[in-house]
Amino acid sequence: MNRICITGGAGFVASHLTEHFCEQYPNSEIIVVDKIGYASRLAYLTGVLRSGQVRLVEGCICDAALMRGALKGVDLVVHAAAESHVDNSYRNAAPFIDSNVTGTVTMLQAAIDNGVGLFFHVSTDEVYGGSADRLFTDEDALNPTNPYAASKASAEMFVHCYAKSYGLPTLVSRANNIFGTRQYPEKLIPKLICDALRGRKFQIHGDGSARRAFLHVDDFCSAVTTLISRGERGRIYNIPALREYSVVEVVDLVAGVIGISRDHLAGFGPDRPHNDSRYGVVGEKITALGWRPTRLLENELAAIVDWYRANTDLYFDEPPRSAGKPILWLGDDQRILARPESELDGYVSPSRQVARLTDDARVA
Ligand SMILES: NC(=O)c1ccc[n+]([C@@H]2O[C@H](COP(=O)([O-])OP(=O)(O)OC[C@H]3O[C@@H](n4cnc5c(N)ncnc54)[C@H](O)[C@@H]3O)[C@@H](O)[C@H]2O)c1
Repeated sequence: MNRICITGGAGFVASHLTEHFCEQYPNSEIIVVDKIGYASRLAYLTGVLRSGQVRLVEGCICDAALMRGALKGVDLVVHAAAESHVDNSYRNAAPFIDSNVTGTVTMLQAAIDNGVGLFFHVSTDEVYGGSADRLFTDEDALNPTNPYAASKASAEMFVHCYAKSYGLPTLVSRANNIFGTRQYPEKLIPKLICDALRGRKFQIHGDGSARRAFLHVDDFCSAVTTLISRGERGRIYNIPALREYSVVEVVDLVAGVIGISRDHLAGFGPDRPHNDSRYGVVGEKITALGWRPTRLLENELAAIVDWYRANTDLYFDEPPRSAGKPILWLGDDQRILARPESELDGYVSPSRQVARLTDDARVA
């Protein structure tokens, strides 16, 4: 592969994917597209941008002209950009329809227009809706029960439709919950950790009996590259974690690592309008390709807590976006360059520094 585009690369999952791709495909050029939303941090990309292998296009995946330009010469698209938080989707579904549905259709069209060789769509186990007593296979009907999941299910329908109508080679992953460093502290594990570190009390949704399987982000990254090298084009692959936990069990694990009691860390609050009890998936298709999840939450949690302890400023002490120094700027050759280490002391959206690519603009 000569050129790879990863969308959402300034967010949690796809920033790890970008690093993993740099290692796995050292001779490929990687273009990250991200609008730099509230869950993104440019700091996640500083290392890979410095390496020169990665370039960042700051922009929205719904911008058709920008995406057509960004995908010029691209062999592989890994589409992970999305609005990702269920609670936000209950408050306002509109951004989820924009980014997750319209954005996906825009990426698909740009992929067709540019003759992209493979479109890898990052979907989720939430498209199945929940079931307390059975495991889902990729042939089960989609039955989403929250607006986030409905937008992801809808996006998948377009992926399948473009594959069928235009012969676009696709792969779709439906992973369990993913955990690791850099996850925005609105999701269960980082929110628990950050609340504990900041002496705040976490509110459990309902009675905390909902069960979730947690897949380490490194396991997810290796699943993606396994599917790219050996997955059957046009297929959907569940990506299961090693084990599942109730929310209360996760609270206890975090409390144990931080060294406080469950009661000190968390209390019970109102539940979501609907909260699926469990998303169990059968992963035999990906395990048949030789991939296995390897990391257990309980073994990884201490390192993740240490990371949040060292990086709380990324989330809670941000300088206002309109002030401070930009940490990245655009070089003469349209390469986004990092400032010297001494100047990496603030985060500001680089919007004004980044020339927008147009249909005619070359990415390279
Ligand atoms: N985190 C999980 O547990 C999990 C599990 C399964 C699947 N997924 C999927 O993985 C993907 C990444 O999730 P995440 O947890 O890293 O989310 P995240 O919110 O941390 O990151 C998403 C990134 O996408 C970008 N983005 C959103 N809308 C955009 C737009 N219109 N244009 C350009 N960029 C845009 C955001 O700025 C952000 O950087 C999503 O597709 C999500 O559905 C996540």
